[in-house]
Amino acid sequence: MYKINENYLKLPGSYLFSTIGKKVTAYTAAHPEKSIIRLGIGDVTQPLAPAIIEAMHSAVDEMGSAETFRGYAPDLGYEFLRNAIAEGDYRLRGADIKADEIFVSDGAKCDSGNIQEIFSTDNRIAVCDPVYPVYVDTNVMAGRTGTYDPATEMWSDIIYMPCLAENGFAPELPKETPDLIYLCFPNNPTGSAVTKAQLQIWVDYANRTGAVIIYDAAYEAYISEENVPHTIYECEGARSCAIELKSFSKNAGFTGVRLGYTVIPKDLKCGDISLHALWARRHGTKYNGAPYIIQRAGEAVYSDAGKAQLKKQIAYYMKNAKTIREGLETAGYTVSGGVNAPYIWLKTPENMTSWEFFDYLLERAGVVGTPGSGFGPSGEGYFRLTAFGSYENTLAALERIKQI
Ligand code: MLT
Repeated sequence: MYKINENYLKLPGSYLFSTIGKKVTAYTAAHPEKSIIRLGIGDVTQPLAPAIIEAMHSAVDEMGSAETFRGYAPDLGYEFLRNAIAEGDYRLRGADIKADEIFVSDGAKCDSGNIQEIFSTDNRIAVCDPVYPVYVDTNVMAGRTGTYDPATEMWSDIIYMPCLAENGFAPELPKETPDLIYLCFPNNPTGSAVTKAQLQIWVDYANRTGAVIIYDAAYEAYISEENVPHTIYECEGARSCAIELKSFSKNAGFTGVRLGYTVIPKDLKCGDISLHALWARRHGTKYNGAPYIIQRAGEAVYSDAGKAQLKKQIAYYMKNAKTIREGLETAGYTVSGGVNAPYIWLKTPENMTSWEFFDYLLERAGVVGTPGSGFGPSGEGYFRLTAFGSYENTLAALERIKQI
C-alpha cells in the first residue's frame, strides 16, 4: 500500500490566495449586484509593453518556419536572454554576475518553492514574519519545519524574525543561528525596503555563520530611493553566501506569461560542493526550459524601447501606490510601504483582526485586500493593499474606503 507525503497534512488551510479567491467568489455569488474592486493578490493589470508584444510576434513567426523553429530550450535558458540579464540587471549595477550563473525559469514562485530541494532537510530556516507564504509552505512540504502550533500559528523548527513598526519592518539578526535565511526586499507583504548598509550586515552574518541567504528581489523595479540595493550582489561578499531570485511578473507584467530566473554564483559552495552544480543538475532533470517565445519577450525587457515603456508602467503603478498611501493617511489610517514597493501595509482600525477587516472592507466597501495575518503571526492586525490595480479602480476603492 502506498503512502503519501504526510508533511502535506501538516499544512493548515489552503494557500493564502486560494482562500481569499474562494471567499470572494462566495461573496460575489451571494451578492451579484455588488461591484468588487480587487486589490488583494499582487497581480498586474496593465497590458504587456509594445516592445514585448513585438518580440513575441516575431518569435511566433520564427516558430512557424522550419529554418527558425526551436524545440527544447537550453537547460539554463537561451544565451541571448542570460546575456541581457547579466548586462542589464548586474553589470550595469556594478554587480559581478556572469551569464552562466543565471538559470532562466518560468517564474520566481516556482524557484522560491523549489530551491530548498538542494538543501538537507535538517537545515534550519529563518523567515521574516510576516512573509510570502511560499517559503514556509514549501519547507513544510519538505518536512523541515517541525510541528505547527495553531495557538501561535508558528512552526516549532522555523526561526521567525518579526518585522514590525518598531523595527521599521526590517528583520533583526536572529538569536538562534539558521542555515538558510529567506529575505525579500523590497518586501512582500510590508512594502518596506532595506538600505545597502543594512543588507551588508546580513551578507556578513551569513558568511560568518556559514548560512545561505535566499534573496527574493521580485520587486526590485519599484525601488525609488538611492541607497536601496537593486540586487544583493551589490553587497561585498554576497557571491559566497547568496542565491537571488528574480521575476519578470512585477517589472514587466509577465504574471500570465511566466518568466523568472535564479542566480547562483559559482563561489557559493558547501565545502567543495558547488550549489550552482546542484541546481544545474536539478534544473536539467526536472525542467525543460521556458518557451522560446517567452524568452524572446524577456530579452525585449532589456531593449531601449522596452526599458522606456516599462519605466512608464512602473510609474503608473507607483502613482497608484502614492494615491493609496496618501488617501489612507488622510482618512486616518497608519500606513507604510508604497515608496519602494507596490504594496501598502496598513494597521487595521479599532483593533480589528486582519480577517475581520477583510470582511468589513469587502462588505462595506466592496474592496478586496489581503489580511496581514495570512503572511504570519506578526502580520495580525495589518492589511495589505496592492498598487497593481488600474488607476480608476484605485481611486474608486479609496473613495469607498473613505466613506465607511
Ligand atoms: C502576492 O500577492 O503576494 C504575489 O502576487 C503572489 C505571487 O507573486 O506569487
